[in-house]
Amino acid sequence: MKLSIGLLGCGTVGAGVVSLVRKRADKVEAMTGFRPIIKSILVRDTDKDRGVEFVDERLTTVPADILDDDDIQIVVETIGGIEPAKTYILKALMSGKHVVTANKDLIALHGPEILRTAVEHEVSVLYEAAVGGAIPLVGPLKENLTANEVTDLKGIINGTTNFILSEMTSKRIDFEAALQMAQDLGYAEADPSSDIDGLDAARKLVILSSIAFETEVHLQDVQVEGIRKVTATDVRYAEEAGYVIKLLAVGRDHGGELTLSVRPTLIPRSHPLAHVSDAYNALYVRGDAAGDLMFFGRGAGRMPTASAVVGDIIALVRNLRLGYVTSSPNISESVRKPVVEREDDCYKYYFRLTALDQPGVFAHIAQLYGESGASMETVLQKRVESGRAEIVVVTHEISSSRARLLAEKLADLPEVHEVNMVMPVESIAE
Ligand SMILES: NC(=O)c1ccc[n+]([C@@H]2O[C@H](COP(=O)([O-])OP(=O)(O)OC[C@H]3O[C@@H](n4cnc5c(N)ncnc54)[C@H](OP(=O)(O)O)[C@@H]3O)[C@@H](O)[C@H]2O)c1
Repeated sequence: MKLSIGLLGCGTVGAGVVSLVRKRADKVEAMTGFRPIIKSILVRDTDKDRGVEFVDERLTTVPADILDDDDIQIVVETIGGIEPAKTYILKALMSGKHVVTANKDLIALHGPEILRTAVEHEVSVLYEAAVGGAIPLVGPLKENLTANEVTDLKGIINGTTNFILSEMTSKRIDFEAALQMAQDLGYAEADPSSDIDGLDAARKLVILSSIAFETEVHLQDVQVEGIRKVTATDVRYAEEAGYVIKLLAVGRDHGGELTLSVRPTLIPRSHPLAHVSDAYNALYVRGDAAGDLMFFGRGAGRMPTASAVVGDIIALVRNLRLGYVTSSPNISESVRKPVVEREDDCYKYYFRLTALDQPGVFAHIAQLYGESGASMETVLQKRVESGRAEIVVVTHEISSSRARLLAEKLADLPEVHEVNMVMPVESIAE
C-alpha cells in the first residue's frame, strides 16, 4: 500500500531525503506493507537544479498542496529556521499528520509547544536529525537509555567550530585563516556567528538536556561562550601542556539542579573527546546503570542528515502499521528542574596573560595565585616582543568563582598588561 509523504524544502538535506526514501522504499514495503512515496515537495523555486532526479515527486510553491492534502500522512520539514517552518509544522500536526523535522532551531526554541500540539492531536513528531546529523542521539536518550538517570552530557556538537579548532591545531594557523577554510569548504556559512559564537551548540544542548534530564530547558539557561577569542597561541600552549581545545557543550544534573554550558575547554589528550576532529561530532553520556557511553559520527551533510530523517520516517511507517503514536512530550512540567550557576564547582583552569618581562614579575604573579588558593600545575613562560612575556598557567582544581576573582586580580596588577584567555580544563573522569 502507498504511504504519501509531503516534503517541505528540498535543499541540502531535503534532496538527500528524496534519494534515500526512493532507495529504501522496497525494503520498507517488505518490512511494513507500506511503500513510502514522496508525493509533493514545497520549494521557493521549482526550476532550480537540486542535484536529484524527481520521478513521482511533484514540486510546488503552494504550502496548501501538502498541508491540505488528506492523502499525505507524513510531513517532513527541511526548510530550517523558525518561520514559516513553525506555522507549517503546527498546521500539519493539527490536521492529524505526523511530522519529521531536522530543524534544531525550531525544536530548541519551540519544542515544548510543538510536542504538546502533537500529543493533543495524537500524532508523532520526530527530530533525530536536529542534533548530531547521522549520529543517533535523540532516539537512544529517549528510548534505549530511558531506564537510566542520566547525570552527564559532554559533547562536541558543532562541526564547524570543531573543524576550525582542528585546523588551528593540525596546521598551526590562526582563527581567521581556519574560518576562511571552513567557509571555502562549505562547513561555515557566510555569516558564521551562530556556529562560532556557540549558539548552534547551545540550541542542540537544550534539545539533548531536555530529553536526558526529563525537564523543560530554555536557551537562556545555557552559559555560552564561543571560540572567537581562541588564538593559535592558545592552541599551541594547550598542546605543550598535554591538552587540545574543543568547544565543549556540557549538561549536568546535580541531583535535580542542572548546569548547562557551551565554552572553549581544554581536554586532556587521553580523553576520547580529544580525538574527535574535523567536522565530526561526539556525545559522551553518563547514565547510572549504563555507565559511560560515547556516540560519534558525522554531524552534518546531505546524506548523513538524510540518514537520520529517513530513519525517523521509517520508524513512523512501522508505528503506523502498529497503530502506535510516539510523541510523548518528554517534558514533565511538574518536575521542572532549576538551572543554576554553581560557583563552587571546581575545575582546573588555563590562564594566558601578558606581563612585563622583568625580574620579580613572575614571583609577584605566582604569589597572587598562592594567595588565591590556586596552586599551579603547569607553567609556561615565553618572551614576546617589546619587553613583554607571555605566561601560561594551568592551575589545580579551583572553584569557578575563585577563578573569576583571580582573573580580575591579575588584570589589576600593574605588571600585567592583559589577561588574554581563561578556559576551564575538562577532567578525564570523576
Ligand atoms: N545541512 C546540514 O548538514 C544539516 C544538518 C543537520 C540539520 N540540518 C537542518 O536541516 C534543515 C534544512 O537545512 P538545509 O541545509 O537542507 O537547508 P537549505 O539547503 O537552505 O534548504 C532549505 C530548503 O527550504 C526551501 N525553503 C526555504 N524557505 C522556504 C519557504 N519560505 N517556502 C518554501 N520553501 C522554502 C528552500 O527552497 P529553494 O531551494 O527553492 O530556495 C530549500 O529547498 C535546517 O533546519 C537545518 O538546521 C541541516
